[in-house]
Formats: sequence, C-alpha cells, structure tokens
Amino acid sequence: MALAEIALILCGLAAINNQIAVARASIDIGVNYGRQGNDLPSPDNVIQMYKKYGIGKMRLFKPEPSVLQALRGSQIDLVLGIANEDLPNLAASLDATHSWFATNVEPYLNDIQFTFIVAGNEVVPGNLAQFVLPVMQNMQNILTGKGLAAVKVSTSVAVSTLGQSYPPSQGAFSEDSKETMQGILKFLAAQGTPLLINAYPYLAYTSDPQDISLDYALFTANGPIVHDGNLSYSNLFDAMVDGFFSAMEQLGISNVGVVVSESGWPSAGNGNFTTPELAATYNRNFMKHILSGDGTPKRPGSYIEGFVFAMFNENQKPAGVEQNWGLFYPDMQPVYQVFPLQG
Ligand SMILES: *[C@@H]1O[C@H](CO)[C@@H](O)[C@H](O)[C@H]1NC(C)=O
Ligand SMILES: *[C@@H]1O[C@H](CO)[C@@H](O)[C@H](O)[C@H]1NC(C)=O
Repeated sequence: MALAEIALILCGLAAINNQIAVARASIDIGVNYGRQGNDLPSPDNVIQMYKKYGIGKMRLFKPEPSVLQALRGSQIDLVLGIANEDLPNLAASLDATHSWFATNVEPYLNDIQFTFIVAGNEVVPGNLAQFVLPVMQNMQNILTGKGLAAVKVSTSVAVSTLGQSYPPSQGAFSEDSKETMQGILKFLAAQGTPLLINAYPYLAYTSDPQDISLDYALFTANGPIVHDGNLSYSNLFDAMVDGFFSAMEQLGISNVGVVVSESGWPSAGNGNFTTPELAATYNRNFMKHILSGDGTPKRPGSYIEGFVFAMFNENQKPAGVEQNWGLFYPDMQPVYQVFPLQG
C-alpha cells in the first residue's frame, strides 16, 4: 500500500474517532466553575472532569490565567465574567476595557470559544449598577471592531432585580432597578443578545415552604400548580423565568431572550431542605428541562441555555449552605449522581 493511502486511512480513522468523541463529549449544559476553595483540583483536572462528564459549557466568574490556559483546545464553550470590582475602571475607559480584552480574551481566541463576556454578576440594583451599561458598550465596541460577532456581551442579574415576580404575568423590575435595566435591555435588544439571569427555586421555596410545594420547586409536580390568566405552571423555575419576561415586556422590551446563568440546589447546610437527594432531583430535572427545549409557558419552544451552580463545594465561602452547592467534592467525587443524564 502506498504511503499516501495509509495516511488517508489514518486520517479517516482519526475523523471517525473525533466524531465519536464529539458525539459523546458534550451535552448542551453549562456548569459554573466557582473557585472559592483552597482544596480544589487543578484547572487541568477540572477540564478533564468537564470532558469526562460531557459538560459542554463553563462559566467562569472572572478571568484566571491558569484556567484559560487549561481550556485551550478543550472545545468547552466559555462564558467569561468581568469581576464586579473591575466595572468602575472599565466603564471609565475604553483603553482599560481594551487592555482587559487584550489580556484575558485575545491571546486565547484561537483555542477557546468565548460565547459571552459578562459585565458583572448580580450588581443591579446597587452601587455598581451604573457601570454595567458603559462596560457593555465599551466591550461591544472592541468586539465589533475586531469582527468578533460570535462573542456576546451581557450582564447577569438575580431575581432580586424584580420588585414583583408573582404571579409571572405581573413580573416587574423593582423601582431601584428599572432605569438601569431599561438601558441594559435596550442595548441587548439592539445587539440581539440575551440577558443572563440567576434563578433559584430553592431560595423561593425555603423562604416560604408553607405556600410553595416542594414538588413545584423540584419539577416533580404531576400537573399545573399555578394558574395565571390563560397560562399554567407546573414548576417554579418556569414561573421565575416568565416573571423576567413580563418585567421586560412592562418596559416595552419583548425581543430579548434569557440565559439561565445560575440555578441549583445545595446538598447540605439547611436541615432537611438540603439533602443530596433533593439536590440531585432538582439538578437532574433542571438539566432535563433545559435540554428539552420546551421553553416556558410564555415562550413555548424557545430554547433557554442553562448553567448549574456549581461544579464544586467551595470551602472558602461562608459556612453552611453556601459551601454546599457543588455537584462534586474537591476530591472530584460526585456529591450525588447526576451524570450521565438519563432520559
Ligand atoms: C393569553 O392571554 C394573553 C394576555 O391576556 C393574550 O395576549 C393571548 O392572546 C392569550 N392566548 C391565548 C392562546 O388565548
Ligand atoms: C422537613 O421536616 C419537617 C418536619 O418533620 C417536615 O414538615 C417537612 O416537610 C420536611 N421538609 C422536607 C423538604 O423534607
């Protein structure tokens, strides 16, 4: 056999192997890689875990060179945050924003697929809220200038941005969030970029377990629990997301989508509200719901990206629940079984 033919056959095999690897490699689910622990695995090991469990997307709260280095060539999509404390500086100066981009994104563009750059996490409303839109604009200018249309700029907000979230049709931003959100949403609408929202049925449920049923919080209700006009809800997650859609509509914005940048359930720290079984049930059902592409009652069939919070239990967070959001212990063992996701 000629050498060229052997090379062709080898190429073919490599292609087949690649296809198998890609098919098995990833589900369209993200996991937040929080790093507030002094006992976490090395970034290389973490990337191997994402690959092993087929987690296709990572969210990182701020750039960390060791993680970015480890991500090179991994084919894991990255949502990269700008640290809250960097917002004032970047808002004040296009040069500072450019330098952030040149340090944290540009050197990796050939090897990492950045999907979002996120200007701050849960800073609206608050002292830093005023800086979010200017940073988004500066960053967008840089990306547009470089023709990087695949990288989107957004920000991530908590449900506390809403003054009212129930019933979902009455969702509205709070008075102290409204003006900032209007500016941000106009920007997102013009760019065709979704808003990132952090949605935790756990927090709503544990703040009012008398009135909210556990099944409604865990996606395990057999039928509708909440009726709201002509829509009905069998899970609290959809109701929260639709609360955001209603709040946007109230500001005249009906064409901005959402990405759920955080959702999850802690496995310990709050008595029988936090067991590995409940956390496993929530996170499994959350991921299945995201993968189903069913959307929400207000936006049926609209695909919503979702990210679980979080990859690891983090021992440098406040004691109790806060340390127990992880799917994995720092020794890389699962806290409970969620992967592979069964249909
Ligand atoms: C449901 O109610 C909304 C708001 O009242 C209305 O705009 C919509 O057309 C209704 N949809 C159906 C299918 O009746
Ligand atoms: C926790 O225990 C209390 C008291 O036994 C019970 O009423 C409640 O339903 C339990 N909650 C969960 C989530 O299991």
